[in-house]
Amino acid sequence: MDIGGGTLHAYRGTVPTLGRDVFIAPGAQVIGDVSIGDRSSIWFNCVVRGDVNRIRIGTGSNIQDGSVVHVTHDRWETVIGDHVLIGHMAMIHGCTIEDHAFVGLGAVVMDGCVIESDGMLAAGALLPPGKRIGRGELWVGRPARLARRLGDDEIAKQRMGAPYYAELAGEYLRAARTR
Ligand SMILES: CC(C)(COP(=O)(O)OP(=O)(O)OC[C@H]1O[C@@H](n2cnc3c(N)ncnc32)[C@H](O)[C@@H]1OP(=O)(O)O)[C@@H](O)C(=O)NCCC(=O)NCCS
Repeated sequence: MDIGGGTLHAYRGTVPTLGRDVFIAPGAQVIGDVSIGDRSSIWFNCVVRGDVNRIRIGTGSNIQDGSVVHVTHDRWETVIGDHVLIGHMAMIHGCTIEDHAFVGLGAVVMDGCVIESDGMLAAGALLPPGKRIGRGELWVGRPARLARRLGDDEIAKQRMGAPYYAELAGEYLRAARTR
């Protein structure tokens, strides 16, 4: 099945597992114990490396161009929920990002962090080890601090990002499959 041009690699005999209509863009590398749910997308030149621990990505989530997702040996796996948006060039390391959360472009999420549902980490922010962004909170800066709670309208807008990306990924996949 055509996944869109990206590359899956085995690590110690474990191959990434993909749901239906997962788009892995050209230049993206997905390695080892990684599972990715239906309609999720990994964009150009991302690295998703599940070698020394596992990575779980739910359905309808997207990891945008140039981002890196990794884990910490024995200690921290990375779990990304459903309908999560991870902006371009983000660094996601050994952490949990719950459903509908948003990680801004160029942001860093370190070991043991949790971003709860509908939480948002601003573009360029750095979330230090073990921090927790509460449901619907916006954290900004390096190191990131709680800026404020998002309004219902902002959460609604934030939730539109993942379906938009799932649609876009579907278009790329269809093009790849008809080539
Ligand atoms: C944080 C964010 C949500 C804006 O929040 P906001 O409350 O609407 O902020 P405003 O634009 O009103 O700006 C308020 C202040 O915060 C600053 N600010 C805005 N975004 C910032 C960020 N990412 N980091 C640090 N400071 C930021 C502004 O410069 C402004 O400062 P000032 O008052 O000194 O002029 C937005 O900038 C952001 O990071 N969006 C994510 C976009 C993204 O990564 N998309 C992914 C690709 S699809």
